[in-house]
Amino acid sequence: MNEDAPLKSFVIAVDGPAASGKGTIATGLGKAFSLPVLDTGLLYRCVGVLVKKAGESLDDEGSAAAAAALLTADQLDDPALRTRAAGELASRVAVHPRVRDALLDFQRTFARQEGGAVLDGRDIGTVIAPDASAKLFVTASPEVRAERRWKQLKAQGERVSLKDVLADIRRRDARDGGRDAAPMKPAADAALLDTSEMTIDHAADAARRIVEAARAKWLSSQ
Ligand code: DC
Repeated sequence: MNEDAPLKSFVIAVDGPAASGKGTIATGLGKAFSLPVLDTGLLYRCVGVLVKKAGESLDDEGSAAAAAALLTADQLDDPALRTRAAGELASRVAVHPRVRDALLDFQRTFARQEGGAVLDGRDIGTVIAPDASAKLFVTASPEVRAERRWKQLKAQGERVSLKDVLADIRRRDARDGGRDAAPMKPAADAALLDTSEMTIDHAADAARRIVEAARAKWLSSQ
């Protein structure tokens, strides 16, 4: 694979902070445009869980990078990756440049598959697929995101207070946006979508319209 070759297929990059609605939006875009979807947060969650299981320190870049290098797609279906604890572990290992490097190929291979793809994460539009044909940066206020995540966790059977979820969200925003390696930030050419005042259906519709316009532009350039 030539990593520097321009993307010829239609790739949609969906970035944004935790519980912004980007996962639901990415899934909806995948259905609307018949494209496979990769939730790249699962890769970091899996690495964090593996490091923890092995009893290694999350600050040990070498151990985390070794776990990342061995990761396979079939490990991403584990429901344990969707927990609150796994999100925190993910954010901790995601600061390590060698972990990010080890996960780069997996993500770029997914992005470059024939026909195109949707990827959601923090650095898709900036690092993984900077030449994606459509880029969205999905946000919402920390309070709105905390409430969404809290409801989700409750539905999954996790007992946690809204206050603790808000603290998690603020901590993760600061870590994910403040790290040196591929910090979370909107690509210069990303469309910003603030979903604070939107239902998830409304947000998914708005995202679809943005991507339809980008697709029309992309098709006319082919
Ligand atoms: O999207 P998520 O909440 O499942 O992501 C979990 C953590 O993984 C997030 O706090 C930061 C990290 N992550 C990242 O650094 N880069 C990505 N492309 C996706 C996730």
